[in-house]
Amino acid sequence: MTTVGRARRSCLAVPGSSPKMLGKAQGLPADMVFLDLEDAVAPGAKPDARKNVVAALNEGDWQGKTRAVRVNDVTSPWTYRDVIEVVEGAGSHLDCVMLPKVQNASHVEWLDLTLTQLERSLGLPVGRIGIEAQIENAAGLVNVDAIAAASPRLETLVFGPADFMASINMRSLVVGGLVPQYPGDPYHYILMRILMAARTHDRQAIDGPYLQIRDVDGFRESAGRSAALGFDGKWVLHPGQIEAANEVYSPRQDDYDHAELILDAYAHHTSDAGGRRGAVMLGDEMIDEASRKMALVIAAKGRAAGLRRTRSFTPAPE
Ligand code: GLV
Ligand code: MG
Repeated sequence: MTTVGRARRSCLAVPGSSPKMLGKAQGLPADMVFLDLEDAVAPGAKPDARKNVVAALNEGDWQGKTRAVRVNDVTSPWTYRDVIEVVEGAGSHLDCVMLPKVQNASHVEWLDLTLTQLERSLGLPVGRIGIEAQIENAAGLVNVDAIAAASPRLETLVFGPADFMASINMRSLVVGGLVPQYPGDPYHYILMRILMAARTHDRQAIDGPYLQIRDVDGFRESAGRSAALGFDGKWVLHPGQIEAANEVYSPRQDDYDHAELILDAYAHHTSDAGGRRGAVMLGDEMIDEASRKMALVIAAKGRAAGLRRTRSFTPAPE
């Protein structure tokens, strides 16, 4: 499955309580922004943060970016008002609602129905606003397949490492980094589990934050691990992480060129003009239908990232 949706290589967290940061975020080169009403906003600041978020969506210039709002989780006293106020106030300027700490499919179903009610009552196109589900605890991971299938609005599954580590009693405070006492990547199983559910249901898979915001090399390493598995992007908490995320989750130019060549070579050799062969050579490399599928993934990501080909395909003389 290729799962190409909205670009989300870099997903910038912007606290809804800070008009200054809501303003600054608009000029940053992140693919996606989420205006936060959850953990970056203190309980007493939530009502004002909702107003700031509505104003920023309506009045800001978010051109080229996917716009999401992270509401509070469904066990909190704030979720209902978050969703109602944000969608009533700025529903036509909003692409997705992000729901944190999703534990089972009913959480997503509730949001789906509530959005449908809001869209109907406001005269907005029904189904346009997407959902992003954060997987941040053991229950969410155990139920991740059902969560991924819970609504056609669901666009992404998002790993929430900080809450997840707390939920399973992981003995580390370094969010997104390796744990020195453990001889492997402690997130590997969680990332793979999320990725399998996401790909089964054709959703994007997004990695969560890396909290050491001044350590860009550490960020790159952490992002590189999930990008290597197939994740589509990662949260960024600081402008300094954006460029690294955009780079790490785009294919390298060489890989992109190679993927486009595989597609051209395969299309040529399987055509009538190319002799209708199934397994063919591209230079010293044998390629077949599976190679084409792999190349499609890299080519689609490269095109979405705006890469241009630097090599073209010329059939070898028969
Ligand atoms: C993000 O929400 C996290 O908990 O890591
Ligand atoms: Mg969290």
